Amino acid sequence: MNIKRIAVLTSGGDAPGMNACVRAVVRAGAYYDLEVWGVYNGYDGLVNDEFEKFDSRSVSYILSQGGTMLYTARSNAFRTVEGRQQAFENCKKHQIDGLVTIGGDGTFTGATIFSEEHNLPVVGVPATIDNDIYGSDYTIGYDTAVNTAIDALDKIRDTATSHNRLFLVEVMGRNAGFIALRSGIGSGAKAILIPEKSFSDGELFSLLRKGINENKKSNIIIVAEGNPNGSPYEIAERIKEKFTQFDIRVSILGHIQRGGKPTAYDRMLASRLGVAAVEALLDGQQGVMVGVKEKKINIVSLKDAIENKPEIDEDLLRVANILSF
Ligand code: F6P
Repeated sequence: MNIKRIAVLTSGGDAPGMNACVRAVVRAGAYYDLEVWGVYNGYDGLVNDEFEKFDSRSVSYILSQGGTMLYTARSNAFRTVEGRQQAFENCKKHQIDGLVTIGGDGTFTGATIFSEEHNLPVVGVPATIDNDIYGSDYTIGYDTAVNTAIDALDKIRDTATSHNRLFLVEVMGRNAGFIALRSGIGSGAKAILIPEKSFSDGELFSLLRKGINENKKSNIIIVAEGNPNGSPYEIAERIKEKFTQFDIRVSILGHIQRGGKPTAYDRMLASRLGVAAVEALLDGQQGVMVGVKEKKINIVSLKDAIENKPEIDEDLLRVANILSF
């Protein structure tokens, strides 16, 4: 198919660097003499016909901004056959020859079904703070989220040390421990509880006991969302039963991890992947995701991207264990 007009949307949870990626798609489109249309509100915008023709100036001054200027949604309408049919009709109406979808695994699930049902090339770009996408070493937004978490953890450390307290800090990640592992190592956490690796109460208690014996001033335990040990409040109760001397606090970092200016790394990644997505469409690729593997652009099928899970870095786990001993 001869690609002349493409559309771009962001979907799922926002991630820092999404804007940089939208900009890269629009500017790469202009470079290759394509018409680029922005679609607002994720897949809802495809269904509800929220298209706008963009040019290079439409994406001025967004490279450094968090969030997404296209807005985002987790669309219910697009989960239905009728919704996707309507979305396709709207793409036909605007003579769209290819679609770039920027988001996480929910976004790619929608993209896969859409590209199977309708003859429209779709290329996905991985953007989620969770870093839980197979086929890319990094997803857009992850590096920024880790830096945000570390910054918050450094601040919590000040109070933990000053008051001789134990903090349980919940970080995001849904069912993946990538943010937890890196922010835990980066902030000197005593323990890191993640979904991918079991960490028994017994192991946790013996680490804490060792700290008490060594007169340790503060303890930070990172609790990833989706970890099997339970919520930080539940874990706090079990610790308190065993060690009455601890003054324990719980802190949920929450959505501050999703916002803010993208780091240099995320801006580079988003820019590269935006250009790569346009080039993949021009190359005749469809139903694929563009990611990075060992610093090189890596293209996998959207199906592979959603059906496989990226593995946690065992060596980082080893480093975390050594340093929290
Ligand atoms: O997928 C990104 C993420 O921030 C997860 O880390 C978190 O579990 C979830 O989204 C929160 O979703 P919502 O913003 O809908 O509460």
